[in-house]
Amino acid sequence: MSDSANTVPPSQKSRVKKPGAEKPWAGRFSGSTNAFVEEFTASVRFDRRLYPQDIAGSIAHATMLAAAGILTPAERDQIVTGLAAIKVDCDAGTFKWSVALEDVHMNIEHALVERVGEVGKKLHTARSRNDQVATDLRLYLRDQCDELLRALERLLLGLIALAEREAATVMPGFTHLQAAQPITFGHHVLAWFEMLLRDRDRLRDARRRIDVLPLGAGALAGTSFPIRRELTAQLLGFAAIAENSLDAVSDRDFAIEFTAAGALMMIHLSRMAEELVLWNSQQFAFVEMDDAFCTGSSMMPQKKNPDVPELVRGKTGRVVGHLMSLLTLMKAQPLAYNKDNQEDKEPVFDTVDTLAACLRAFGDLVPTLQVRRARLRAAADAGFTTATDFADYLVRRGVPFRDAHRVVGAAVRLAIERDCDLTGLTMDDFKALHPVIAHEVYGVLDVDNVVAARDHLGGTAPNQVRAACARARQRVDD
Ligand code: ARG
Repeated sequence: MSDSANTVPPSQKSRVKKPGAEKPWAGRFSGSTNAFVEEFTASVRFDRRLYPQDIAGSIAHATMLAAAGILTPAERDQIVTGLAAIKVDCDAGTFKWSVALEDVHMNIEHALVERVGEVGKKLHTARSRNDQVATDLRLYLRDQCDELLRALERLLLGLIALAEREAATVMPGFTHLQAAQPITFGHHVLAWFEMLLRDRDRLRDARRRIDVLPLGAGALAGTSFPIRRELTAQLLGFAAIAENSLDAVSDRDFAIEFTAAGALMMIHLSRMAEELVLWNSQQFAFVEMDDAFCTGSSMMPQKKNPDVPELVRGKTGRVVGHLMSLLTLMKAQPLAYNKDNQEDKEPVFDTVDTLAACLRAFGDLVPTLQVRRARLRAAADAGFTTATDFADYLVRRGVPFRDAHRVVGAAVRLAIERDCDLTGLTMDDFKALHPVIAHEVYGVLDVDNVVAARDHLGGTAPNQVRAACARARQRVDD
């Protein structure tokens, strides 16, 4: 793109220019575009990102046109060769993008005509930019889903490895951010895994509905040429062909679904991020984040800030916002294509970039996370996290649960008075609290025993966590 075209303030050039002979639609117009309007309506600044898909789509379209007898094989070959050469220029960054040519589609078509001459003008037979752009965006999102799925799977495997490593590491589990019951660190990490594995399912599911070919829909009503949509679909690897031409050019629900899956993934990453920030603080000191993922303060020498998870947490807002943009963009749009849809690209692109960056950041960070086991154990021992198990013990010895609850409450009060934990109470203390309490109570109050006792599918016992990790590996592969 000639940068000048983009940076000159519209006010300096908003008078009518010479009729824009280079505009593909110039035939219908006698006046030319107001320079501000030209910039206002142009999308090339951002949709040039779609050039690989646009060129691939055009090559498939030209190939289909020749197979259908609409182009000669020689015309097809000239077009395909020209498009391949344009791709080389785009890849090298030497392609001259022009705002006057509005969007990626017209820039490439214009370059094709310049390169191969009149025959280039035949490429757009039986096609409209409306089915073209819908095809480009679907191809783009399909590729991006595959990339993101790879990055997500890397993070999932990192979480499994961390969970396995810390399968027997005891920590307090929280409700209301208050120490509730002892759990294992591995079990906590596997909760993150479950959230993100569902996100993978959602992304895969969105990909299935992205993978549908719009080309052939034309501007909205199809085409009178004898096109072969099955062939175009096959050439581009689409799993299905859009059944209705109006729907094919107009709906962006596939982009909304992608962004919705992405927004939920960001919500999950933000939950992980929040816990990492908390745990990395001096107050918790549950984990130590590698220096590579932190920065210092320009003023306070002691600081080591958890920037990476903070940024992931903060970037969640962008993707949630993009989802709102796309939903609102689509709302109440009449059939078929409307220019509103040009506004789909920036939210979609930023969603892709944000997800890719955040998945990569966490994929890199998770394997380097240092877990401070002694701190975690001390935190699990404090805060009376074994009180529920103590009450369950009394119930097993015949005490009704309501009474047991009251006895344990009294024990906790006594321990607070003595400034100790429940295991700091003596056998005499226990006997005074309730005569059924025997010496084995000390084993009941041991956090290792407490977690080991949660020995069922979905439970926090170390051997359950290890078994869950083995299943998790299998599920990632599925
Ligand atoms: N740049 C347009 C978009 O992103 C391409 C389709 C334009 N179609 C049209 N009839 N003006 O949606």
